[in-house]
Amino acid sequence: MQHIRQVVDSEFNSVNDFIVEQLHSRVSLVENIGHYIIDAGGKRLRPLLSLLSAGALGHIAHDHIRLAAVIEFIHTATLLHDDVVDLSELRRGRPTANAEFGNAPSVLVGDFLYSRAFQVLVAIGNMPLMALLSDTTNTVAEGEVLQLSRAGNADTDEATYFNVIRSKTAVLFAAACAGSALLSNNDEQRQALYDYGLNLGIAFQLVDDILDYEGDPEETGKNVGDDLAEGKPTLPLIYLLRHGSKDQQQQVRRAISEKSAAELDGIVTAVQSSGALDYCRQAAARHSQAAINALQALPASPYRDAMSQLSELALQRRS
Ligand code: IPE
Ligand code: IPE
Ligand code: MG
Ligand code: MG
Repeated sequence: MQHIRQVVDSEFNSVNDFIVEQLHSRVSLVENIGHYIIDAGGKRLRPLLSLLSAGALGHIAHDHIRLAAVIEFIHTATLLHDDVVDLSELRRGRPTANAEFGNAPSVLVGDFLYSRAFQVLVAIGNMPLMALLSDTTNTVAEGEVLQLSRAGNADTDEATYFNVIRSKTAVLFAAACAGSALLSNNDEQRQALYDYGLNLGIAFQLVDDILDYEGDPEETGKNVGDDLAEGKPTLPLIYLLRHGSKDQQQQVRRAISEKSAAELDGIVTAVQSSGALDYCRQAAARHSQAAINALQALPASPYRDAMSQLSELALQRRS
């Protein structure tokens, strides 16, 4: 990751500076919470995608820096809201903003970050980019609502699961990449960049859903078992409901419908021994490969290589 970031080192630092600058508010609670979550770090993967995409198209302009920050603001807003909805207590190795400050401030500062993102977009002044990001943000919200409406429902199928992860996660990855093509006035490679981001985002969320069962909180900075406690029918459980033993099927059905992580240990053992996690890893590998294939449309460059490596790294990541 460090190695990949170095390809756009100075621009990456500019993005971080711009993010801090744009966190400014007259209301101190906004800045406190904004800094609380942003200073905790995070991988800054999505802004990295915008920078690498711009580089792969030939030039990283100041507007690409601003776009990268916009994408990170939208991402951070979704995290603030998502942790309230998911009742999560740990994020980026710290208590979540909702645990530290309460639900109401988290929701409201999330709104601040969303709207700040759109203020910056207006300053960039590119209407097709605004259309892309307003559609994207709207789809992310729909994805989170669709997921919410399926929580506790053990009859959720694989197609619905993929619809959720494409909407809530992958479209923002896609927009991070394709948005750079819009700013570069490059119509030719925009779709390839979109396809790269979309497939990478799907692989990334598949791995996130695996890590929710077998990740190490020291590495992920998030608790294990949050998805189970929310009754989320993610792919490991959907697999188990179809291929697990009768006992395993009943156990998973119970956990989902009761939204209970009480049987987490047993379910972790079951997802490991049944091949459910392998099944998810294979799905992630297919999407990671599809992302790499999409890059073939771009000219060879260190940026393209870094994007290809990122897609491989998405499969191996532990954080
Ligand atoms: C977390 O995203 C939300 C998902 C889409 C899984 P990241 O894993 O990129 O979170 P940070 O920004 O690095 O904390
Ligand atoms: C990602 O899903 C949600 C967003 C798009 C914000 P998760 O609910 O799995 O993300 P984490 O695990 O809380 O980071
Ligand atoms: Mg969550
Ligand atoms: Mg998760």
